[in-house]
Amino acid sequence: MLDYPRFFATPEDRALSSERLLPLELRRLSLQARGQRLIDSVDLKVQDPGISVIMGPNGSGKSLLLRLMHGLIEPTEGAILWAGTPMNGQIRRRQAMVFQKPVLLRRTAAANITHALSLRGVGRSERGSRAFEALQLAGLERQAFTPARVLSGGEQQRLCLARALSLDPDILFLDEPTASLDPASTLAIERLLIDAQHRGIKVIVVTHDVGQARRLAQDVVFLHHGRLIEYQSAPRFFERPESDVARSFMAGGLVL
Ligand SMILES: Nc1ncnc2c1ncn2[C@@H]1O[C@H](COP(=O)(O)OP(=O)(O)OP(=O)(O)O)[C@@H](O)[C@H]1O
Ligand SMILES: [Mg+2]
Repeated sequence: MLDYPRFFATPEDRALSSERLLPLELRRLSLQARGQRLIDSVDLKVQDPGISVIMGPNGSGKSLLLRLMHGLIEPTEGAILWAGTPMNGQIRRRQAMVFQKPVLLRRTAAANITHALSLRGVGRSERGSRAFEALQLAGLERQAFTPARVLSGGEQQRLCLARALSLDPDILFLDEPTASLDPASTLAIERLLIDAQHRGIKVIVVTHDVGQARRLAQDVVFLHHGRLIEYQSAPRFFERPESDVARSFMAGGLVL
């Protein structure tokens, strides 16, 4: 395991945490916009604490599903339950998300993190050291005082991950977190995610990189046209996807 910062809860702490958030249940979840069903009656129950990977072709609804789960958008129908409870402020504070496009403030890299920590109510005295440790985790300590907006695309993405990890969430959502990273940075991020999972953080990650999904996933959610096509354990999904669309996607074929 990596040498993790002190602000991280230990797996034991998390296991003892009185309120578990899993299972995550989606019940007939739908999202309509301009007469279109962008998410179409998705039923899903995620029980296990391993890394869940969401896959599917462009436009299949992966980012929308992640935003719905994180409570950033409201479904038009259906419900999302965390251990039987609908999203509330307390549950949201135990989650963090890394978006497909980096969302950063016009401040230094470190200040982007301390700002997020202050919004979460972390005391001023703790913010600086926690931010620095999170930057170290993402290999960005040398860029701590660089304006976030001048960082390269890959560095910005890593900064967003550092910021999310600094919050020490119980649930971590990531939307294609390695899309603009080189192979070395990609592997470093994957290692971080695997370690986060060992720390008891539930990781839900969108990727269309099949290799990455194979390396990370314990279970796979496969979407197409806003519908849940398959939800399988990773070994089963990768060995024998049940649907034609998933098979074709995995083979690098055209999915219409
Ligand atoms: N606010 C909106 N109004 C109308 N359509 C939308 C809105 N947001 C997203 N969509 C549409 O919903 C579909 C799903 O979008 P989403 O961003 O979830 O796809 P995705 O699976 O994440 O794709 P990608 O792999 O390209 O990131 C797309 O066809 C998109 O154009
Ligand atoms: Mg997307």
